[in-house]
Amino acid sequence: MVQEETKSTQEQTSKELPEFILDTQNSIPYDGRFLQPGELVDNPNPNMSLLDAINTRRTARSYRKEPVDDETFGWLISNAMHAPTACNEQQWKVILIDDPKVIEDLYERGSASFLQHIQQCFLLCYNKESDNLEWGDHIQSGAAFITTFQLLAHSLGIGSCWVGHLPNKSEMRRIFNIHHYYEPIALVTFGYYRSKVGMLPRKHDPERVIMRNHFDQTGLVFQDRRRTLFRTIARWGYYKVPAFLRRKLKPYLKRFEKKFYYEVYD
Ligand SMILES: Cc1cc2nc3c(=O)[nH]c(=O)nc-3n(C[C@H](O)[C@H](O)[C@H](O)COP(=O)(O)O)c2cc1C
Repeated sequence: MVQEETKSTQEQTSKELPEFILDTQNSIPYDGRFLQPGELVDNPNPNMSLLDAINTRRTARSYRKEPVDDETFGWLISNAMHAPTACNEQQWKVILIDDPKVIEDLYERGSASFLQHIQQCFLLCYNKESDNLEWGDHIQSGAAFITTFQLLAHSLGIGSCWVGHLPNKSEMRRIFNIHHYYEPIALVTFGYYRSKVGMLPRKHDPERVIMRNHFDQTGLVFQDRRRTLFRTIARWGYYKVPAFLRRKLKPYLKRFEKKFYYEVYD
């Protein structure tokens, strides 16, 4: 009896939930292959539906020349500050980086190569004085902030990229003089969309993602462990190399970076 009631409530709820259909959403032009969030630059739509914002946001690594002004950046940050945080601590610090020399320096020290062409980014730091280090509360709180920021930015025609391809945290601490109670969580590049971004479908079927009451270990697919181990060691060694040598190596090592061919610019 209880089971029947639960089932009928579930059916009712799912009937009421709107389905996201890319072709019929009207927040962003879509030509069947590419999204054109560049339209949002002249016609920002911070009131777009949540479903549209989530489903049409895609990472952008190349931006228009006009920078995002401080007022807009402030709006994004103040709204992203509604993201959840562990124990409601709200202990973010956002280092806005717009000095070309600092960005160039990050690039040369071995960060993601597309940083060479960007004008603005921020480093998110979070206070790590948590009694729940086991669960990495500060990392999770930081991740929630970045996700919220990316969705808000998207609604204004501002594309962004979450970047973890950076020098070691100890080095980042020294460069930015970060207080030892704070941890750098990630760097986020941002700027106005140029025009198109590829609309990549998600890789997994939600039915294979959702498990009920236990971890279902059947049909799991793993990466090549030797390759991962090799890359981990190579990465560890690379960032141990003194910065002046990394600067020299950067042009040669670029080719080993993951390429994101699906991105389209005009
Ligand atoms: C924790 C994390 C670290 C990431 N680091 C990088 C990075 O170093 N360089 C990069 O180009 N993209 C980076 N990304 C962006 C992902 O590549 C991107 O989200 C992914 O390819 C899916 O694309 P989408 O955001 O358009 O759905 C990172 C994303 C996350 C969540």
